[in-house]
Formats: sequence, C-alpha cells, structure tokens
Amino acid sequence: MSVKNAMTADFLRSAYGGESMAHMRYLYWGNLAEKDGFPNIGKLFKAIAYAEQVHAGNHFNELKDQKGDYTVPAGAVFGVGTLVENLQGAINGELHEVEQMYPVYIETAKFQNEKGAQRSFHYALEAEKIHANLFSEAQKAAKEGKDIQFSTVNICPVCGHTVLDNVPDACPICGTKKEMYKTF
Ligand SMILES: [Fe+2]
Ligand SMILES: [Fe+2]
Repeated sequence: MSVKNAMTADFLRSAYGGESMAHMRYLYWGNLAEKDGFPNIGKLFKAIAYAEQVHAGNHFNELKDQKGDYTVPAGAVFGVGTLVENLQGAINGELHEVEQMYPVYIETAKFQNEKGAQRSFHYALEAEKIHANLFSEAQKAAKEGKDIQFSTVNICPVCGHTVLDNVPDACPICGTKKEMYKTF
C-alpha cells in the first residue's frame, strides 16, 4: 500500500526532504567535529546521519506510487559554526521535528487513514526524541571542551532507533532484532 491522500503525500515529501538534508548536514558537521579533535561527537553525527537516511528511505518508500517530479519545500537548519553552535543547530532541528512537525504529520495521516505514512512518521518522531537528548549531552561535553564518552552508537535499520553501547534484544520502537542494528 502506498499513500493516497494529497496532504499526507505532501507531508511525506516534505519529511523526505527534511531528513535528506539532515543526513547531509550531520555528515558535514561530523567531519568538522572530527577535525576539531572530537572523534566521538563526530561519530555520533555520522551514526545519526544514518538514522536520518533510514527515515528518508521509509518516507520515500511510502511515496512509491506517487511518480513524477515535485518541487519539495522542507525545513532545514543552515550554518557552519563552532562545534557547540553546530550541535545547537542539530538540537533545534530535532526539537522542531519532535514538537511541531511529526506530531502534526501523524495527526494528518491518522485523520486520512494513511497507515503506512503514520508508521513512517511515528518511527521518525520516536528516534528524533532520542537524537535531541544525545545532541544535548554532546553539547554539554563540548561546552566543557570534552568529547562525549561511549564505545559505540547503534542504529536500528528499520526505524532509526539510536542507542549508545548496549543494544536491547528487540528495538523498543519497531521490534527489530538486536543482530540487525548497524554499529558505528
Ligand atoms: Fe534525528
Ligand atoms: Fe527499530
């Protein structure tokens, strides 16, 4: 099944655009963090870039029968600054998704009985909540001139769930098995 209603389809395209740009932005900011001597914050950016790719892919797949060319308006954070500033940009973007964008998109998909879109938006919303917290932790460390402490960042390839170090047996958002997680 693919999306049928125009408004939910518009929101899927917009979310696809937003996630795609977040993916690129985090790769870029991740490289800068590594160059600045913060390898773990760099790794966090790059792992979360993969989670945003998972979200973009889910939204794109829900649009599989909406063939054609579109100009897509989508929110994105711009700017290249210090590590602390870039992390603030990341926090702002995640919070926009958590507090405004995805809750509205989910309600619209529910109203239009678009089950697939609802699931795709729900997966993203739940992962973005975690991203906002992880970027806040990283920023707290960066403000003290320290790197964030962890061994691995692990991403669920189905929903983008993001967890440091200890992967649960099943993804708490979508139920995917531990073995499937991608480790950075
Ligand atoms: Fe995110
Ligand atoms: Fe998951």
